Amino acid sequence: MTEQLKAAPPHLIPDSAPFTAEQRAWLNGFFAGLLGAGGTPVAAADVLPPAASDEDFPWHDAALTLDERMKLADGRPIARRLMAAMAQLDCGQCGYLCQTYAEALAAGAETSPARCVPGGRETTRTLKALLAEAPAPAAAASAKAPAKTPQRATVPARLLSREILSKPGSQKEVRHIALAFADGALAYEVGDSLGVVAENCPDLVTAIVARLGGGEARVPCPDGVDRPLAEALRAHLDIARPSDDAIALFRDRALYPEDRAKLDSLLDGTAGDDLAEIDLHDLLTLFSTDSIAPAALAERLLPLQPRLYSISSSPQAHRGEVHLTVSAVRWERRGRARKGVASTFLADRALLNAPVQIYAQTSHGFHLAPDEAPIVMIGPGTGIAPFRAFLAEREARAARGRNWLFFGDQRRATDYLYEDEIEGFRARGTLTRLDLAFSRDQLRKIYVQDRMRESAAELWSWLQDGAYVYVCGDAKRMARDVHRALIDIAAELGRMPLHEAEQWLAAFGREGRYRRDVY
Ligand SMILES: Cc1cc2nc3c(=O)[nH]c(=O)nc-3n(C[C@H](O)[C@H](O)[C@H](O)COP(=O)(O)OP(=O)(O)OC[C@H]3O[C@@H](n4cnc5c(N)ncnc54)[C@H](O)[C@@H]3O)c2cc1C
Ligand SMILES: NC(=O)c1ccc[n+]([C@@H]2O[C@H](COP(=O)([O-])OP(=O)(O)OC[C@H]3O[C@@H](n4cnc5c(N)ncnc54)[C@H](OP(=O)(O)O)[C@@H]3O)[C@@H](O)[C@H]2O)c1
Repeated sequence: MTEQLKAAPPHLIPDSAPFTAEQRAWLNGFFAGLLGAGGTPVAAADVLPPAASDEDFPWHDAALTLDERMKLADGRPIARRLMAAMAQLDCGQCGYLCQTYAEALAAGAETSPARCVPGGRETTRTLKALLAEAPAPAAAASAKAPAKTPQRATVPARLLSREILSKPGSQKEVRHIALAFADGALAYEVGDSLGVVAENCPDLVTAIVARLGGGEARVPCPDGVDRPLAEALRAHLDIARPSDDAIALFRDRALYPEDRAKLDSLLDGTAGDDLAEIDLHDLLTLFSTDSIAPAALAERLLPLQPRLYSISSSPQAHRGEVHLTVSAVRWERRGRARKGVASTFLADRALLNAPVQIYAQTSHGFHLAPDEAPIVMIGPGTGIAPFRAFLAEREARAARGRNWLFFGDQRRATDYLYEDEIEGFRARGTLTRLDLAFSRDQLRKIYVQDRMRESAAELWSWLQDGAYVYVCGDAKRMARDVHRALIDIAAELGRMPLHEAEQWLAAFGREGRYRRDVY
């Protein structure tokens, strides 16, 4: 217990201190960098880069691949290479930001390399490899017991509705989630995200308990409290993404060499597609093992982390409520229907009017531009969420700045999310210009960046008039292609070579006029 407390992640700034969650996370990480675990000073200079106000973080871009990010951080101090391995979302799901999590790991104040949910197993493996090569104290710390979960201050909200936005025949299931909170309980701005504390599917938990046995057992949870096994698996432990420690437990108990080899391949990252997205239920059904004690398994599982959603409401226009635009994640693997934990918790399992724990996550540079500035919003799919909020906010404030929205999805008839509201914004003049790209309404795919290229001259003139550009939605495909389109437009209309156009876009970002919330 003492060891656990010593190894606890930094919680040096009390929750009552007058800081936002983001500031508190940064300060905790900063002080953790100066103090070792248990408050012992460490040779911070060995692992932390020298403080420099003009330090750049070229890998801090969620649209880059892990390989690209690691190359950009090559030769930098360990704390920066650890940072490059994170998903770069600064989503706060782990209780830190990417930089503060990396600094806490490098300084040895944080011991778990498995906290970055969006980075997944790829990030965890890279962090482990970096820590294994790192000088003390990072390497020494990585051998300690896992740290406790950082605690977040959540507030209860009431689920008001989960209306389905996708129309019958759509290949997607996108829902408008409305939550009500008590007066003053939650403060947010448009552009912020909402953390949702979700629970695992009880049917899956029942199936796991039946396989594992020991249904009466009480097991340790990441917050240090022992709970009945089913409750721990439902609300406290990550059963969708078993940790390497949990997989190693199955490997050590495996009855057959071929199972041991497969489990080894999962641990060393060489497993084939047949083992992709393995969850705890798969481990229990695919492999024959000696009996596994529920408590031994529970203490090796990762904490169930909250999920982040871009807020789609405006505190000015939707008082006392917070809205989300959630795509329910469902797929099939190895003959079993799979469900994303939080998206299907909101879509299926949370009871109307029952409490849901939430917290506001302050955005990093995705806030609304000054009222008079023109804004260009590029948000296909669920990327529309913050822009519904921006438009509602600007309308409520009677802001004079022009608003241009690029929205797209698969088909106009079934996937035009918030069609009535968007057309209403257009009819009332709040939306100055609307460009729609429905990818599957014709043989050739049409995406938002195609619409941007078609209107390049006008888009360029908005940028010359001081417009801010916002991009929200898919990081790996859409955001990269939109980025490329902006460079091409700058090169063509600004009559500059490509490399200058790239520099122009980088400078535009540094000015704070190119803002992205991509995931
Ligand atoms: C800042 C931020 C803002 C976000 N805003 C939004 C938003 O506005 N709306 C929104 O819907 N989401 C948003 N997300 C994503 C959201 O946080 C969750 O990641 C998403 O809802 C999935 O979470 P889950 O718990 O339902 O799924 P999880 O249980 O986390 O499972 C997701 C995993 O399922 C697997 N998977 C998913 N689909 C498939 C498939 N077809 N085939 C195989 N495997 C698959 C993948 O391994 C994936 O990693 C945002 C994320 C961030 C970081
Ligand atoms: N990892 C994956 O493979 C994967 C796949 C889908 C969604 N997602 C994630 O699922 C969540 C919800 O997705 P979503 O409903 O918001 O929307 P989405 O799946 O991103 O799709 C929205 C629209 O964007 C289009 N699109 C696809 N590739 C694009 C590109 N390179 N550039 C521009 N537009 C492109 C889609 O077209 P088409 O679909 O017709 O090509 C669709 O019309 C997001 O988190 C997203 O990142 C992940």
